[in-house]
Amino acid sequence: MPIRWAPVLACLVVGALGDATVAEDFDPLQYVDVLIGSTNAGNVFPGASLPYGMAKAVADTNSSSNQGGFTLDGNPVQGFSVSNLGPSPYFSGSPSLGNFPFFVYPSCPGDDINLCDFPKKTRVNHGSFKPENVKAQPGYFSITLDMGVQAEMTTTQHTALYRFTFPNGPGSNGTYPFVMQDLSDLSDSRQDNGTVSVDAQTGRISGGAKFLPSFGSGSYTAYFCTDLSGPSIQDSGIYVNSRATTEAKDLTISRSINGYPLPGGGFVRFQDATTPILARTGVSLISTEQACANAEAEVPDFNFDSVTKAAKDAWKAKLSPITVSAGGGVAKDLITNFYSGIYRTMVNPQNYTGENPLWKSDEPYFDSFYCLWDSFRSQIPFLVILDPVAVAQMIRSLIDTYRYEGWLPDCKMSLCRGYTQGGSNADNVLVDAYLKGISDGIDWNVGYQAIVKDAEVEPYDWATHGRGGLDSWKSLGYIPVQDLDYKGFGTMTRSISRSLEYAYNDFCISLMSKAMNNTADQEKYLDSSENWKNVFYPDQTSFLPTGVDTGFKGFFQAKYLNQTWASQDPLTCSNLDTTGIACSLQNTGRETFEDSTWEYGLSPRSSPFSNITMLADQARARRGRTSTFLGTSTRLQEVSREMTIPARWAQCVPHHAPFFESVNLTHPTTGKTATIRNVNFDPSYEAIYIQSATMNGQPYTKNWLDHSFFLEGKELVLTLGKTESTTWGTAVKDLPPSTGKYVGFNGTASGQRLRSKSALKYRSDTWKMDAFAR
Ligand SMILES: *[C@@H]1O[C@H](CO)[C@@H](O)[C@H](O)[C@H]1NC(C)=O
Ligand SMILES: *[C@@H]1O[C@H](CO)[C@@H](O)[C@H](O)[C@H]1NC(C)=O
Ligand SMILES: *[C@@H]1O[C@H](CO)[C@@H](O)[C@H](O)[C@H]1NC(C)=O
Ligand SMILES: *[C@@H]1O[C@H](CO)[C@@H](O)[C@H](O)[C@H]1NC(C)=O
Ligand SMILES: *[C@@H]1O[C@H](CO)[C@@H](O)[C@H](O)[C@H]1NC(C)=O
Ligand SMILES: *[C@@H]1O[C@H](CO)[C@@H](O)[C@H](O)[C@H]1NC(C)=O
Ligand SMILES: *[C@@H]1O[C@H](CO)[C@@H](O)[C@H](O)[C@H]1NC(C)=O
Ligand SMILES: *[C@@H]1O[C@H](CO)[C@@H](O)[C@H](O)[C@H]1NC(C)=O
Ligand SMILES: *[C@@H]1O[C@H](CO)[C@@H](O)[C@H](O)[C@H]1NC(C)=O
Repeated sequence: MPIRWAPVLACLVVGALGDATVAEDFDPLQYVDVLIGSTNAGNVFPGASLPYGMAKAVADTNSSSNQGGFTLDGNPVQGFSVSNLGPSPYFSGSPSLGNFPFFVYPSCPGDDINLCDFPKKTRVNHGSFKPENVKAQPGYFSITLDMGVQAEMTTTQHTALYRFTFPNGPGSNGTYPFVMQDLSDLSDSRQDNGTVSVDAQTGRISGGAKFLPSFGSGSYTAYFCTDLSGPSIQDSGIYVNSRATTEAKDLTISRSINGYPLPGGGFVRFQDATTPILARTGVSLISTEQACANAEAEVPDFNFDSVTKAAKDAWKAKLSPITVSAGGGVAKDLITNFYSGIYRTMVNPQNYTGENPLWKSDEPYFDSFYCLWDSFRSQIPFLVILDPVAVAQMIRSLIDTYRYEGWLPDCKMSLCRGYTQGGSNADNVLVDAYLKGISDGIDWNVGYQAIVKDAEVEPYDWATHGRGGLDSWKSLGYIPVQDLDYKGFGTMTRSISRSLEYAYNDFCISLMSKAMNNTADQEKYLDSSENWKNVFYPDQTSFLPTGVDTGFKGFFQAKYLNQTWASQDPLTCSNLDTTGIACSLQNTGRETFEDSTWEYGLSPRSSPFSNITMLADQARARRGRTSTFLGTSTRLQEVSREMTIPARWAQCVPHHAPFFESVNLTHPTTGKTATIRNVNFDPSYEAIYIQSATMNGQPYTKNWLDHSFFLEGKELVLTLGKTESTTWGTAVKDLPPSTGKYVGFNGTASGQRLRSKSALKYRSDTWKMDAFAR
C-alpha cells in the first residue's frame, strides 16, 4: 500500500546518524509525538502499543480516514478498540482491525439500559471531545469525552488495559456507570458468527468473531477476554442492535441480511463511579481461553501505572541507541520529527508469535507486513541497523510462511495474504539481511530456495504472492503491456513498474547467489537484472500539461508483446496527472504503480544500477530543471528536505548533510557507536553542502556509506558550506557501487560480506542494500 515515506526515512538516516552527546538520563520519549499524522488523512496509529505489539489500544473515531483508529479531524469517538493495524506511517486502504471496541457511559438515562445507545452509529453522538483533552505518548493514550468519561489505555504484548474514570460523576440522571464491548471492527467486516458471553459473577466478557483483512484475501478469527476491576457490579447482560437485556448472558450473532453487521455485544454496569473502572482485555488468534490466559499472565494485578511504565520503558530501550545533539540551535520540531519517525518504524509489523493458528511451528510469527513492497525500501533496512534481533525474527517468520504456504508473502496481514503490487519483495528483504550478516537462527538455505522460487515459478494466484508474467519475463526480458499470461492471474497493469521491480528482485537474488558461491545463479540473475533496459525508451520525450517541452529525453516506457513501444506519458501517475485515474491496483490500465516514469527513472532502486552512468546523466541533466517541473526547489539538498520526488535520487548521491550537528547510533548487537558530526553546522540549513569529509580521521570522498559504518562504529565528520562543492564526492570512484560488468568500476568493495578483491564482477553488494540508498 502506498507509503510515501521512503525518502523521509532515508533522509532521517542520512540526515541524522551522526554524533550524539547523550546525558545519562536522556529520554528520547520526550521527543516522540505520536499524534503526528492523526490529521489530514495521515492514517497513523496514535494509540498505545508495545514495539511490534499485538494489542493496540486507541479511541476510534468515525472519520472516513480512521485507518489507524484515532483522528484529530473533528470527528467523534465511536469506541475504544483493542487491536489495531496502525499502519506505519500510513495506509490508505480500508481500515483494518479495531476489533472489540468498548464504549462507556457515566450512566444510562434514568438507569434504563435501553436508553443507552449501543450501535456505533448512534453512540458516536456521545463521542465528541476537545483536542486538548487528548494525551498520547508511546505506550499510553488518554481521552476525555465531553459527556464526562476519561478513557486511559496502555498495553502489554497481547493485552490492553483501560482505566475509565468519570470526572463529573454519573450523568444523564442515572447512577450506574455502563461499560459495553462490541463484536465489531473498524470496517464493519464481521462475518458469521460472532459470540459473546458475560459472566454474571465476575463480569468477565469474552468471545470472538470472524473478520476480513483490509488489503488481502481470506478472513481471520479474533478472540478476546475482558476482566473488570473497580466498583461492585450492579448487573450485566448482552445487547443486540438498540436493545439490551440482563436476562441473557450469551449471544451468537449473525451478519445481518443487508450486509451491515448487526450491532451486538456484552455489557456490565457498576454500582457507583467513585473509583475508576479497570478493564483488562486479552486478545488472541487461537481461542478465547488463550486470550484470557494472555491477559492473566501479562497483567496479573490491574496495575495501570506499572503497565504504562513498562510500555514506556520498552519504547525508551528501543529508541535510546540513537542520540542527536540538540545543540547548535536546531529546532525542537526537527528532533521531534526525527524520533517520532523512528518510533513509527516499530509499531508494525506485529509479533504474533504463539498466536498463529495456521500451522504448528516453533518459529517466530510476524504479521502486518503492510506491505513489503513499501517497507523493503524504507522501514526494514532501517531496522536492520537499529533492531537486527527483531529483523531476524521477521525473516524467520517470512521463511516459515514459505515453508508452510509455499510462497514468501509480499504482504501479510491478519493472518491473510495481502495483495502484491509489483515484484516479490521479500526477496529484497531477505537478501538485505543476509548480506548484512543477520544470521540468528535463520535457515538461509531455505530462504534462498524461497527467493529462487519467486523468480522461477509463476503462481496461479500471483495477485497475492510471487510474480506474474514469468514466461514473457524470461522470453522477452520485460513484462509486456497487455501480456499474454495464462499460467497465473493478477491485475494485468503496471507493466513498466513490474518490469523494474522484477529486475531489482533478480539483482538481489544475484547478490545472494554470489555470497553463497553459486556462480551460475549469480550470472543468470545478474543478466535478468539488466532487463530494466528493455523498458527504457531513449527517445521518449516529456511535455508539461501546458504543452511546453520539458526538454528531457529518455524515459521508461511500456512495450507490447510484439516489442513495439506503447505510449504512457511520463507525467502519468505524477502529481501533474490530473486525470484522476488510479495508478493503484484497480484495473485502469496504468503501466506504472503509484508513480510516474519520471520518478521511476530517478529512483535508484527501480533501476538495478547496471548502468548507473546512464541514469546519472539523466539525473544530472534534470537537476537544474526540477524546480519548474516538480514545483520544488532547484537544489537536490533542498528538494530532499522537501521529501519530494527527487529525494530518492538525492539518496543515491547524497551531497546533503545531516539535520543535526551530530548524531550517534549505538549498534544494538555489536555495542559500537557510529557517529556523524558536522563541522560548520548551520541550523538555518543554508550551509548544507558537504565540502569535505573524514572517516575515522582519514579523508573520505565517497558519497555513500556501507553497513560496516554502523557495525564497527566509525566516525564520519562532514565539513559543510553554503555552496555545492564541485569536487567532493563527484569522481566516478566516489559514486555508489554499481555493476562493474557494465559500468566498469574496478574499485575495492568495502562491504561487510563481499570483501574479496578477487572476482569482483560488481560491487553493488552493500550500497544498494543500505537504507539510505534506496
Ligand atoms: C556521541 O558519542 C561521543 C563519544 O561517546 C560523545 O562524545 C558525544 O557527545 C555523543 N554525541 C551525542 C549527540 O550523543
Ligand atoms: C460521524 O458522526 C457524526 C455524529 O453523528 C456525524 O455528524 C458525522 O457525519 C460522522 N462522520 C462520518 C464520516 O460518518
Ligand atoms: C431521568 O431520565 C429519564 C429517561 O430519560 C426521564 O424519563 C426522567 O424524566 C428523568 N428524570 C429526571 C429527574 O430528569
Ligand atoms: C452460526 O450459528 C448458528 C446458530 O448456532 C448455526 O446454525 C450456524 O451454522 C452458524 N454458522 C456458522 C457459519 O458457523
Ligand atoms: C516476539 O514474541 C515472542 C513471544 O512472545 C518473544 O519471545 C520475542 O522476543 C518477541 N520478539 C520481539 C522482536 O519482540
Ligand atoms: C563461499 O566461498 C568462500 C570462499 O571459499 C567461503 O569463505 C564461504 O564460506 C562460502 N560461502 C558459502 C555460503 O558457502
Ligand atoms: C504491436 O502491437 C500493438 C498492440 O496490439 C499494435 O498497436 C501495433 O500496431 C503492433 N505493431 C506492429 C509493428 O505490429
Ligand atoms: C551506459 O550509459 C552511458 C551513458 O548513457 C553510455 O555511454 C554507455 O554506453 C552505457 N553503457 C552500457 C554498457 O550500456
Ligand atoms: C582501475 O581502472 C583504472 C582506470 O581505468 C586503471 O588505471 C586501474 O589500473 C584499474 N585498477 C584495477 C585494479 O583494475
